[in-house]
Amino acid sequence: MKLEVNGTAMAVDAPGDMPLLWVLRDFLHLTGTKYGCGIAQCGACTVHLDGEPVRSCVTPLAMAAGRKVTTIEGLSAAGDHPVQQAWTELDVVQCGYCQSGQIMSAAALLAAKARPTDADIDAALSGNLCRCGTYQRVRAAVHRAAELAAKAGDA
Ligand code: FES
Ligand code: FES
Repeated sequence: MKLEVNGTAMAVDAPGDMPLLWVLRDFLHLTGTKYGCGIAQCGACTVHLDGEPVRSCVTPLAMAAGRKVTTIEGLSAAGDHPVQQAWTELDVVQCGYCQSGQIMSAAALLAAKARPTDADIDAALSGNLCRCGTYQRVRAAVHRAAELAAKAGDA
């Protein structure tokens, strides 16, 4: 099965019905994407498929064939995507387990809408659960990331 992962063409010898999450973690050793529930209920496994956020635990490998997959490792070359900068600045992370999923959902939201409202953020990230309750900081950080992205665009 051929797919592009974080800008690199890959060929994976795995069954088409294997969850993409398993392929990313166990075959490609991209362990930044987390396994939480396995049933599309928590968002920990969120990656981008052709720029759209998907739950990789319920996305079969065959669905990713010939398409572009982006994981937290590939969001930016130097870990300085505006969302990552904002997350650091506002010290969003607590235990961290849910956070790559939160960041991937936030990045997809900002790519679709440069200045999201609180309601937009709540709608886009409502499927990303956080047992540590970082929701207020997540929301603030998405707004901050929008500011940083706008500044970078002006530069
Ligand atoms: S592990 Fe995929 S949504 Fe929970
Ligand atoms: S930071 Fe711990 S689950 Fe979200």
